[in-house]
Amino acid sequence: MQEDIKRAVKILFSGDLVAFPTETVYGLGADASNPEAIKKVFAAKERPTDHPLIVHLADSRQLLDWASTVSSGAARLAEAFWPGPLTLILQKKPGVSDLITGGQDTIGLRIPKHPVANALLKAFGRGVVAPSANRFGRISPTTAEAVREELGDAVDLILEGGACEVGVESTIVDMSGEFPVILRPGMIQAEQIEAVLKQAVGIGRKDAPRVSGSHLSHYAPQTPVVLLSTAEIQNFLASGENIFFALMSLHEFTIACSSSLHVKMSKDPQKYAHDLYQTLRDLDKKGLQRIIVEAVPGTSEWDAIRDRLSRASNAS
Ligand code: TXA
Ligand code: MG
Repeated sequence: MQEDIKRAVKILFSGDLVAFPTETVYGLGADASNPEAIKKVFAAKERPTDHPLIVHLADSRQLLDWASTVSSGAARLAEAFWPGPLTLILQKKPGVSDLITGGQDTIGLRIPKHPVANALLKAFGRGVVAPSANRFGRISPTTAEAVREELGDAVDLILEGGACEVGVESTIVDMSGEFPVILRPGMIQAEQIEAVLKQAVGIGRKDAPRVSGSHLSHYAPQTPVVLLSTAEIQNFLASGENIFFALMSLHEFTIACSSSLHVKMSKDPQKYAHDLYQTLRDLDKKGLQRIIVEAVPGTSEWDAIRDRLSRASNAS
């Protein structure tokens, strides 16, 4: 592994791209101080350039290299959740490239918690921009193999780190304004943020420009995804409609059509999140006409999953 990290650091210094595992999803990394390297990230992902990137750091002492100020609330969140699946949006320091921030006056920062990511960030010693290592709008990869499928030769090295523990992207909290606002739900929930801040947090508008998921059809497989309630699934199964489909459900269902697939998902939101993208990715290869997903509970432990399912289903 030490050899791979050395190679990865060399590649980053030469302005090329390294995909690496984090606890959430795999990231496509480039030297955040090198504009040419950042441009390669947008090109490899086919991502619109007004979509800002998160800068990944090894240590919170690097925060003031990127942010102009760190409020006491932001510092408390950093202390409570880093390293971990949280991204903080702070006022950017003058001079931080517009390429990273999409021209906004804020910057997204995160200290991930994965031994490979941490080893890489520590050895490199500078900030690394890293969007999820998928083509724009598609499902984020949670294994090295999935990165290979998504990006192939567009990435110079993929560091192996097994399946990502969390499985969905970090919670993004905007701490740059007067009030804290969650821009993207993740497995760190609103209540946990509120408990640390001792303050209510807002939930960002999903159609706000330029923030996470401003594109509703994000995190989407090629196969149409349909979200149905338990009763709607029962009706659909009873209708006997003759299509080749897969059902991802929390409950047991009896499926008469033997050619269709049934994936029973965990009722534990942590496990569900861990399996979600890989399950969608696997099903997407089966030539199905439809992926039917049973709606998940409305409680806050399921916020991130509900958000990603709703985006996956909006693509179709
Ligand atoms: O878990 C994660 O956050 C993963 C891993 C690799 O760290 N990264 C990730 O990056 O999901 P990406 O680029 O796929 O999604 C980051 C989101 C984008 O939707 C972007 O709009 C938002 O973060 N973002 C970044 N900087 C922002 C800013 N200054 N203001 C508002 N949103 C920002
Ligand atoms: Mg992404």
